[in-house]
Amino acid sequence: MARLATTPDLSTQYAGLTLRNPIVASPSPENAHLPWLKRLDAAGIGAVVLPSLFQEQMEAQDRAAAAVLAQTQDNNPEAQSYLPTSVTGPYGVGPEEYLDLIRTAKAELSVPVIASLNGSDVAGWVEYAAEMEKAGADALELNIYYVPVDITQSGTEMEARYLRVLEAVRAQVRLPIIVKIPPFFSSVGHMAGQLVAAGANGLVIFNRYIQPDIELARLRLSRRLELSAPAEMRLPLLWTAVLAGRVDCALAASCGVEGPDEVVKFLLAGSDVVMTTSALLRHGPEYVTVLRDGLSNWLAARGLASVSQVRGVMSKARLRESGAYERANYIRLIETYSAEHA
Ligand SMILES: Cc1cc2nc3c(=O)[nH]c(=O)nc-3n(C[C@H](O)[C@H](O)[C@H](O)COP(=O)(O)O)c2cc1C
Repeated sequence: MARLATTPDLSTQYAGLTLRNPIVASPSPENAHLPWLKRLDAAGIGAVVLPSLFQEQMEAQDRAAAAVLAQTQDNNPEAQSYLPTSVTGPYGVGPEEYLDLIRTAKAELSVPVIASLNGSDVAGWVEYAAEMEKAGADALELNIYYVPVDITQSGTEMEARYLRVLEAVRAQVRLPIIVKIPPFFSSVGHMAGQLVAAGANGLVIFNRYIQPDIELARLRLSRRLELSAPAEMRLPLLWTAVLAGRVDCALAASCGVEGPDEVVKFLLAGSDVVMTTSALLRHGPEYVTVLRDGLSNWLAARGLASVSQVRGVMSKARLRESGAYERANYIRLIETYSAEHA
């Protein structure tokens, strides 16, 4: 097998940003801390996504500001002490501190800094997108986390909600917007096209919904957030492969990355970048080097000069095997299983 004398070129375009490699640190609590972000940068990360600022935090902040104003005007003593704790959210970082985090990260890091907004319907909070842009974020990741527990709601209504939120945020900023979507649409591809038409420059495939467990001893819902396992990459792998080259936006594959193999697989399926949270929480920020070098060595061992040579090679659009991602393959898989277990 031909070997290259030089290191493969890993540089990547992602929603208008130039990255030194396609490995992106997706949101996690640690990404709220500058020392952690600097370690990711030193270890060679391509870009970082800050943890989300949640709609609930921004609304709490606005309520607090309104209460302070009312206090000044009406001298209402109750308002004086009104500061909901949820302003600081799950990461202890309120909206103002979040903007500081963007500014500091931009000043201290050598890689693009992507801010993350997390909401579920249109309200005043969307204006924080403009603040994030002013603070210097290179792009915005929009996590529309919404569980349609109202069983009378149709799929069309659910899709309309996503589009409304995106359009409202789009109206606030010129920045690239990357929407983190769930896999739960009747037609993921059609929805992807609608999001692009509404202004998305990229999609994260997919958001990992919390799937509850029940603690039998206490008869209550479990509050433990498990890190992901590599088997969880199969669903995003399928849809990355189906969408690659067929929607006019960047694709970020997310979920289940544990080592360089998963990174290579997602790129072969056609993602522009590969995101990881669990692996970095498990092994620390320096693990980025293992992922990056593993990708580089994989390419070099095959005589490939750049990551663009593998991107999408196994996507639906480019795979010669017809029906590989469809029903025919499902039937073939069952035949193989039956033959092996006969
Ligand atoms: C502790 C923890 C906190 C997270 N916080 C956020 C968040 O604030 N915003 C967000 O969009 N995703 C958040 N995520 C989801 C991750 O960014 C990622 O989408 C998910 O963990 C799947 O990727 P992985 O398999 O690489 O872990 C969080 C995940 C974990 C484990």
